[in-house]
Amino acid sequence: MGGSDYMKRYVKKLFNNLGYEIRRANNKEVFWQIDTAFNNLYEEAQMKTQMKATDNILRRQRHYTLSYLLKNIDLKSGDICELGCWRGLSAYQIASYIRQKNEKVDFYVFDSFQGLSEIRQVDRYEYDKRNPDNIRKQFACSLESVQGNLREFNFINYYKGWIIILGKNWTKICQK
Ligand SMILES: C[S@@+](CC[C@H](N)C(=O)[O-])C[C@H]1O[C@@H](n2cnc3c(N)ncnc32)[C@H](O)[C@@H]1O
Repeated sequence: MGGSDYMKRYVKKLFNNLGYEIRRANNKEVFWQIDTAFNNLYEEAQMKTQMKATDNILRRQRHYTLSYLLKNIDLKSGDICELGCWRGLSAYQIASYIRQKNEKVDFYVFDSFQGLSEIRQVDRYEYDKRNPDNIRKQFACSLESVQGNLREFNFINYYKGWIIILGKNWTKICQK
């Protein structure tokens, strides 16, 4: 065994004793990591919607869940609607899926295209020092930009307005 192997074993043991486990960073172990079709589409969607720079594991996992949900719906049984698209990353994935399945599905995208609605005290955690207006505007992307990002899907219907949650089962879209 070479010197570097000893060193690796020593470091591994040291971390184990401290209660940590060392693993290779590029180890692919879970579904969302080994699903090549999903990851290729996700990369493409990120490029088309200017989201590459903010790629992160949690978002990727969330979008893997979306891809899983899509595979489990019956496209013939109704329309698809997304409430809140930002730059269109998730909409890109949904639209790609509809296109791939070659189904006649109406896809509706609703958004203020001005960012988040008013942030109330209940929406914030106690020590959040961030300026609420900055948080709201962080998710703003104009309708024209989103339409540009998703221009290859001519079956998307866009609705600009504020979504108001009225109660448990009711959501109202106010056109503005
Ligand atoms: C976190 S982003 C959505 C991300 C997107 N679903 C994705 O995965 O790529 C939230 C979006 O919801 C929109 N939004 C939030 N509250 C809204 C409201 N009350 N009415 C309309 N749009 C709203 C924002 O403009 C923003 O585009």
